[in-house]
Amino acid sequence: MRPPAEMKLDSSLPRPFVFINMAMTADGKISTVNRAISSFGSKRDFKHLYELRATADAVMCGARTVDLNPVTLGPGGGTFMKRRVKNGLSPSNLRIVVTGTGSVNPSAEIFKHRFSPIILLTTRACHDDRRRSLRPLADELHDGGDSEIMWIETLHWLRARWGVNRLLCEGGGALNAALFQAGVVDELHLTICPTIAGGRNAPSIAYGPGLPALEEASRMKITSAKRVGAEMFLTLSMDRSLGSPSSCPPAPDHSKIS
Ligand SMILES: NC(=O)c1ccc[n+]([C@@H]2O[C@H](COP(=O)([O-])OP(=O)(O)OC[C@H]3O[C@@H](n4cnc5c(N)ncnc54)[C@H](OP(=O)(O)O)[C@@H]3O)[C@@H](O)[C@H]2O)c1
Repeated sequence: MRPPAEMKLDSSLPRPFVFINMAMTADGKISTVNRAISSFGSKRDFKHLYELRATADAVMCGARTVDLNPVTLGPGGGTFMKRRVKNGLSPSNLRIVVTGTGSVNPSAEIFKHRFSPIILLTTRACHDDRRRSLRPLADELHDGGDSEIMWIETLHWLRARWGVNRLLCEGGGALNAALFQAGVVDELHLTICPTIAGGRNAPSIAYGPGLPALEEASRMKITSAKRVGAEMFLTLSMDRSLGSPSSCPPAPDHSKIS
């Protein structure tokens, strides 16, 4: 996937379709309080993750998720790469790491795997010394705001510059919270795992400053629910009309999960 030589930001075009995929405990946590464990899902849940990646032009994570886990955000091997091509996508997805201040660890696992472009979404609050150490690790560093990413503009930029029609966000909670707050989340895929982790300060799927009133909450509706083995696979859609944000293939139908 290469950016076009000429880039025009046409805000009359729809922004990319944004969907989030997360696995959480039955008490709503996405990791233990010490952040040591965040993988609560089964093998089936991991397959589900790759199935969703196979419908996305780009996969995105926040800096702490990339620091704390040996993730590569890749397509997951030959079967899924073939599926991507069948879906009209490139064999490997673009990878995006959000690091407003550039605090992401340059030694993180993702930077050791060069199979597809890596974009770092930074802000103007990222100091020059951090920029210097991050630049060689990324195919592009893009300032998406002053101290926080301006999501609407940045999503339009991702579409115009890198051809992103479907963007899959895989957490963590801080990044998800910012996307919900910006009102750009179209769909949420949630796996509920039969584990109780506890921990007052353990992160949840939208781990931000929170909202003062229910009227400001993101309203979603459950569009699919399926129990497979010990887990529940849910899909929730934003309860509003966005027109047709993407011409790319839709995410897999949960009724086909087996
Ligand atoms: N169970 C699951 O499905 C799942 C999935 C993913 C992650 N996790 C777990 O969740 C935990 C990490 O979550 P987290 O909430 O602590 O961190 P996170 O969302 O992964 O990363 C937070 C960082 O991302 C950057 N960032 C996020 N939103 C931004 C915005 N709007 N503008 C600018 N920068 C932004 C900031 O980087 P800078 O500090 O550089 O500014 C921020 O400190 C880990 O324990 C991880 O393993 C679980």
